[in-house]
Amino acid sequence: MGVGGDNAIKRFWRGRRLREAPAMRGLVRETSLSPAHMICPLFVVPGVNRREPVSSMPGVARLSPDLAAGECGRLAALGIGGVLLFGIPGAKSADASGAWDANGPVPEAIRLIKARAPGLVVVTDVCLCEYTENGHCGFIRNGRIDNDLTLPALARAALAHTEAGADLVAPSDMMDGRVLRIREALDAAGFNTTGILAYAVKYASAFYGPFREAAGSVPAHGDRRSHQMDPANAREAVREARADLEEGADMLMVKPALAYLDIVRALRDRFDAPIACYNVSGEYAAVKAAAANGWLDERRVVLEALVSMRRAGADIVITYHAPDAARWLREEGSA
Ligand code: PBG
Repeated sequence: MGVGGDNAIKRFWRGRRLREAPAMRGLVRETSLSPAHMICPLFVVPGVNRREPVSSMPGVARLSPDLAAGECGRLAALGIGGVLLFGIPGAKSADASGAWDANGPVPEAIRLIKARAPGLVVVTDVCLCEYTENGHCGFIRNGRIDNDLTLPALARAALAHTEAGADLVAPSDMMDGRVLRIREALDAAGFNTTGILAYAVKYASAFYGPFREAAGSVPAHGDRRSHQMDPANAREAVREARADLEEGADMLMVKPALAYLDIVRALRDRFDAPIACYNVSGEYAAVKAAAANGWLDERRVVLEALVSMRRAGADIVITYHAPDAARWLREEGSA
């Protein structure tokens, strides 16, 4: 029988057949999104009962360790899988020694969180930019960030977090060789069960703007393009990921998320390790600002963006929207 005519129309595939009823849509839904896939970033400051809202990130505040632990109790009750801690020290220094202070806000928060919400996976960001006076991710020598000079400090910071009870350390500095250096330091100290979530593919992105306000880590001079990746590069992302896996990373991260979902997919297709993507501060701020103006439906936009990250191949979504998204998913009965 030839193509065309009424008979052919009857045989056409009709996508709408499976879209009409909610239960049918549920049966054929390819991607799941649940709070268990989410990690919520938290900014931790020294002190007690301290909460400082971050103006460019409505709904996000810098919290003292006690309040961070309380927040973690709520996140755990929402079914959220983990938290990612960023420390903002009381004082910055040239040697960045606050980064490995056992009594700094991050180790303090880890201990309180582990007591309050023991089931939550605690991840810590490992970088020097919040701790150096000049806001750079590494030590400067002869006007440049010196990669190898920075590695021991990163390893010390990772070890301090691990000693306090972190489950995963997440180096975000983008120095070469830091995953291996951290792995060696943790193993030498007997912490072979603590994992490394490598910020393997971190782009030099303007989407980090609000974070730098929150963390007080705007570089005093220059930018981060000597170590973070060029947004134009995709093949290089594969090399970065492979290098980190070879050095001992347990999981890979792609950052930012939305403008880089092709990179998430590229890594998913090539590697078997779990992949996280980081829905960063600027992505969050943009949605919040548009929603505050009534220009976007926040709930629908957020859930659409988060499921797209999962669809691209991310196992884990790191997002400031986590508590809201968890509540919305619960309301929809799919959490
Ligand atoms: C560096 C770090 C940054 C972010 C996470 N870790 C900032 C930077 O590289 O300048 C950005 C996170 C976000 O924008 O939400 N410690």
